[in-house]
Amino acid sequence: MNIYQEAAKQIVDSHYCVAFTGAGISVESGIPPFRGRNGLWNKYDPKTFEIEYFLQDTARAWEIIRDIFYDLFGHVLPNTAHYALAEMEQRGLLKSVITQNIDNLHKDAGNTDVYEFHGSLKQIICMNCGQKVNVAQVDMNHLPPTCFTCGGLMKPDVVFFGEAIPQYAASKSIDASQKADCMILIGTTGTVAPANTLPSRAKAGGTTIIEINPDPSEYTDRITDIFIQDNATRAMEHLMEAIDELI
Ligand code: APR
Repeated sequence: MNIYQEAAKQIVDSHYCVAFTGAGISVESGIPPFRGRNGLWNKYDPKTFEIEYFLQDTARAWEIIRDIFYDLFGHVLPNTAHYALAEMEQRGLLKSVITQNIDNLHKDAGNTDVYEFHGSLKQIICMNCGQKVNVAQVDMNHLPPTCFTCGGLMKPDVVFFGEAIPQYAASKSIDASQKADCMILIGTTGTVAPANTLPSRAKAGGTTIIEINPDPSEYTDRITDIFIQDNATRAMEHLMEAIDELI
């Protein structure tokens, strides 16, 4: 049995399989990772994404966010790996996706049970009254945007360094990690807490960990049971072929 057949058998035999994804799954959609070769943190100072900086220099922070996340990456599309996870959900093989990504590509691909641990760029939120609007309503030539309801300052509905994880995403992600008997890690270094505790929490509960990554991560030697060392799109193509052979 090859590694894809092994992984496929674990997934098909599982009762509650979840995916845990990081920036690597979106690299082949054109979004660079944060770390490693051509990582965003090699070009931009992560300080820019701290909530203190955002509040101190709001106009500058919004310009950088616009330049990176809306101008550069605002028009990217899901790739084969995103669509494979959506197909797995449709076929009843995957219960949910816990993602660290803010690019909305899992929902664009068709997954319906997606827990966005770090929020999503698709909306902006008022820091005063909590009103959320679709980012398409923002005039990116007049930043920072203010709330239509109360005039308060609005920010992308994503978790800045120093901010709390959204309660809904946190509780659903923890619940899914505890229920999972199979977890597929795709494209994450596993370096950022508290998101990075979810796979370890699952492993502690006896979950089989399948990992897809061209490079080893914090998980590979510690909790990974099946390590598929490849890019997400090729790995997911082979995995779906192996699943089709089983069912
Ligand atoms: N397919 C699969 N994985 C890939 C690919 C690819 N084509 N290309 C790169 N990778 C892997 C890298 O080997 C690395 O392990 O994706 C991972 C990207 O790691 P990070 O950039 O650290 O992304 P992530 O783990 O999601 O970061 C977690 O850090 O900066 C914060 O909030 C940000 O959500 C992010 C968090």
